[in-house]
Amino acid sequence: MASEARTGALLRTVAASKPGGRLLELGTGTGVATAWLLDGMDVGAHLTSVDTDPDVQGVAREILADDSRLSLVTEDALSFLKRQPGASFDFVFADALAGKYEGLHEALRVVGPGGFYIVDDLLPQPNWPEGHASKVPRLVAELTASPGFSVVSLDWSSGLLVAVRSA
Ligand SMILES: C[S@@+](CC[C@H](N)C(=O)[O-])C[C@H]1O[C@@H](n2cnc3c(N)ncnc32)[C@H](O)[C@@H]1O
Repeated sequence: MASEARTGALLRTVAASKPGGRLLELGTGTGVATAWLLDGMDVGAHLTSVDTDPDVQGVAREILADDSRLSLVTEDALSFLKRQPGASFDFVFADALAGKYEGLHEALRVVGPGGFYIVDDLLPQPNWPEGHASKVPRLVAELTASPGFSVVSLDWSSGLLVAVRSA
C-alpha cells in the first residue's frame, strides 16, 4: 500500500535534516514516499529506491526519474543491502518486508552514525497476510533491543517506528 500523507510528511521532514545525505528507500512502490523524500531533500542529497517489481516501480520511474537526485534500482532489497558497505546511508525507509521482517540486521548495518532507520505499517493493515500480526511485536522488540540505536514507536499514521544510530 502507498504511504499515508502523514507518513510522507514525517519522511520529508527527516529528509530535510540530512543536507547532502545518502538516503535509501526499500520498496519504491509507485513512488509516493519517494516523492515526499525528494521534496524534503536538498540539492546535494541523493536517494536510492529499490523494488523488485519493474511494473510498479515503472510508475515512479515515469514521474520521478528526471530528478538527478534519484536512482531507481530494480532488485531484491536483501541482495542490494548485502552489496552495500557498512554505514553507507544516512537514512533508510524500510517499506518492503525485506529489510524489515527479513534481513533486519543487513538493513541496520548500512545506517551510519546519526542516521535514521524508519518503518511504517506497524498498526493493523487490511493487506496483511495471514500470520503477519504476530511478527510486528517481535520486530519492535528486536529494534528496541538493537545495540547503538535510540528507538521511538509512534502510534500515529499507519504506525511508525523511528530509530537513530547513536554510535
Ligand atoms: C508497501 S509497498 C511500498 C510503498 C511505497 N514506499 C510508497 O510509499 O508508496 C511495498 C513494495 O515493496 C516491494 N517489494 C516486495 N518485496 C521486495 C523485495 N524483496 N525487495 C524490494 N522490494 C520489494 C513491492 O513490489 C512493493 O512495491
